[in-house]
Formats: sequence, structure tokens, C-alpha cells
Amino acid sequence: MQSETQKQFDEAARDILRRNDRGGYTVPTAGLYPFQWNWDSCLVALGWATFDPDRAWLEIETLFKGQWANGMVPHIVFHQPDDGYFPGPDVWQAGEAIPSSGITQPPIAASCVRMLLDLDPSGLERARGLLPKLLAWHRWFHTERDPDATGLVTTLHPWETGMDNSPAWDEALAEFEVSPDLEPYARRDTSHVDSAERPSDRDYDRYMTLVETFRAHGYGPAAVQHSPFKVADVGTNAILLRADRDLLALAERLGAPTQELRDWIARSEAAFELFLEPQSGLLHSIDQLRGGRLAAATHAGFLAFWANAASDGLEQAFEGWLNDADFIVPSMRVHDRKFDRKRYWRGPVWAITNFLMARGLEDHGASELAERVRNDSRKLIVRSGFYEYFDPLSGQGLGGAEFSWTAAMWLYWAGAD
Ligand code: GLC
Repeated sequence: MQSETQKQFDEAARDILRRNDRGGYTVPTAGLYPFQWNWDSCLVALGWATFDPDRAWLEIETLFKGQWANGMVPHIVFHQPDDGYFPGPDVWQAGEAIPSSGITQPPIAASCVRMLLDLDPSGLERARGLLPKLLAWHRWFHTERDPDATGLVTTLHPWETGMDNSPAWDEALAEFEVSPDLEPYARRDTSHVDSAERPSDRDYDRYMTLVETFRAHGYGPAAVQHSPFKVADVGTNAILLRADRDLLALAERLGAPTQELRDWIARSEAAFELFLEPQSGLLHSIDQLRGGRLAAATHAGFLAFWANAASDGLEQAFEGWLNDADFIVPSMRVHDRKFDRKRYWRGPVWAITNFLMARGLEDHGASELAERVRNDSRKLIVRSGFYEYFDPLSGQGLGGAEFSWTAAMWLYWAGAD
């Protein structure tokens, strides 16, 4: 790449992070997402780390201010009020010192802390401060979300998977009715972004039915027991498995006990093969209420590369998945009947999942494939800007503009030398 373009994009990316900084945390994008989101912040910290390591550590420390006493780290922390988003704190009625949502998101924090420490070894004491908090969150996952110690953790809401509108959830969402008592509500997302790029109202009613169910049960174990949606998400489980390993490395380095971590890792490794559909070689999430794998496979299965849990043949299945897409990696296979090039998580390409897949591929020696993924990520950003996600056929930028995690991925990975 021409160094002028590189410099210009680096500066633009840093500017986005600075403008989305609300003092200690970064909003995903102004308008559409005005609070602190869990996995966004962890990945955004990597972007900050390339030019302001102190600010990077602070991003994660601020997220953990919202951690619950039971260890859960919520998917949204509402540090200050903002009317532009639904459902806000008044709907969730959750959180402790700081209002928050009552559900979690993929636990990528420990992996990001490890990457931060690699970039900034002087942050060792900050990592030491985070270690017990990270452990408490992982322990919460491995107990409250896997009470029978199966090695697979449950997610209770599509929002917990971070891939809110993925076709993987269609089937499990169709299995329950919208609550007849659902409080009337007004969506805010479609006033910021074209509704063709957002979930349907039908899905939204179900999302809100789940929120009201969890609230009625006071969140915690009673919500797990009564949830009409219980899925072992291959993406969340892959992210947790790698994060457990990263936490183990951190614990070893800091001289903390490690046995508990080793047990979690062994259990998850043994269970991971349950995601595999032997005929296609693809990984599918599991419906834990009805048993069995869900019908739709999405790009989340390729996060097995990130988790070092890929079965033989996954690389080949991955290459097949890339066919027919002009820009990779599409979140849904292009010729699948569920593919929708514009609607989020149903086809578009995301810089963050591209990073996770590529880093995993690279770690396991598939550097050519990894480089293809990185190249396309770079091309998409240079051609369309720092969008939330991208059309895999035209490369058009979609969803929110000036998106923090896309800017961060540029700085840390896609645009880096
Ligand atoms: C959407 C995404 C989710 C992300 C959030 C903020 O809800 O599906 O993964 O955390 O936006 O960017």
C-alpha cells in the first residue's frame, strides 16, 4: 500500500477513536450505539494500544466497573443516560453500582488483555489488577452457564452471541411465541440506519420477549431455568476457549493458581466436536432445549481457527465458503437461501470476525489464507470507509459509519505493516 494512503487512514482511524471517546470508554459509533459495549470495547482497546497504551488499559478497566457481584460482565454498560437507544436502563432494570443490561457478550477480554500486554509489557500491573475480575467472569460462564459441567456454555439471547441477527438463531426463535403481555415499545435503531440493514420487527418482538422474561425472573439462575431460548453458540464457545487459554498464560506469568483454568479448558476441548456436522465439515451451534445442531451454519463456525479447535477439513470447508464472494469472509454463504447481502450478520463481512479468523489461521500456519482475509479487510476499508460491516458482493459500507471496532482493526491489524 502507498504510504500516503496508509498514513491518511491511520490518522482517520485514530480520529474516530478520539471522537467516539466518552472519557474512559469508547462508544461503538455515535448515535446508533451511545454506550459502552462489552466485546466492542475489548477489541477497540487493541486500536488504542497502537498509539495510547494507557488509554487502552483504561478501556477494559472501565468495562469491568460494570461487572456484577456474581462475576458477569454485562453486554452494555450505561455509564451515562442517552435517549437515542432502545432498550435502555429503564427497560433492563439491571446492574449494580452502574446501570447495565442483564445479559453478557462473547468473553474476548482475556485474549485482548494478553494482546495488550504483548504490545505494552509495561502494563503488567494493570493486567494483574484485571486478572481476578477476568477469572470471576470466566467462572460465572463455566458455572451459571454450564451448571452440569458439559464443557459447552449456554447463551440465552441472540444479543449475547454478538451476532444478533444471525440466521443461526431463526429456528430457535421460531420455537417460542411473542409474549402476549409484551410492553409496547419503539425501536430506535431504525431511525439511525436503513431498516433493510437491521433485524425485522418480528425478530425484535422475540428479543424483547426474552428481555422481559429475564427481568421478571431477576436475571441469574432463574432466568437460565426459564429461558425459552438456550443455545450453545459455536462462536461464544470458541472465544471462551481461546480466552481461557490466554488467561492461563496470564495466570502462569503472574504466579496465580491455574488448576481451575486447566479443568475448564480440558472440558471445552472435549465437547467442541459436538458442533461438527460430519457431512459438510461445518460447525453448527446447538439448540440445548430441543437437542441437536441448528440448521444454519454461519461464519461463526470458523472461529474454531481462533480457538485452535478446528477439525481436519475445516480449512477446506472454509475455502468453499469463500467462493462467490467478491470480498471475504461473508457471514453467510453467498448461495445459501438465507444469504442477505445487506442485513447484518446474514451475509455482510465484518472486520472483527475477519481478524479473529485470520489470526487463528495464521497461528496454525495457514498464512496464505490468513493474508487473503486481511487483504480483503484492508480493501473494504480503503474503498468504503470505517463502516460497521460491508456488502460481500459490492464492497459497499453498511450500518453505522465511523465505527470504532473497524477503526481499531485497521490500526491493530488490517492496515498495519
Ligand atoms: C450490534 C452487534 C454487536 C455489537 C453492537 C455494538 O448489536 O450485533 O455485536 O456489539 O452492535 O457494536
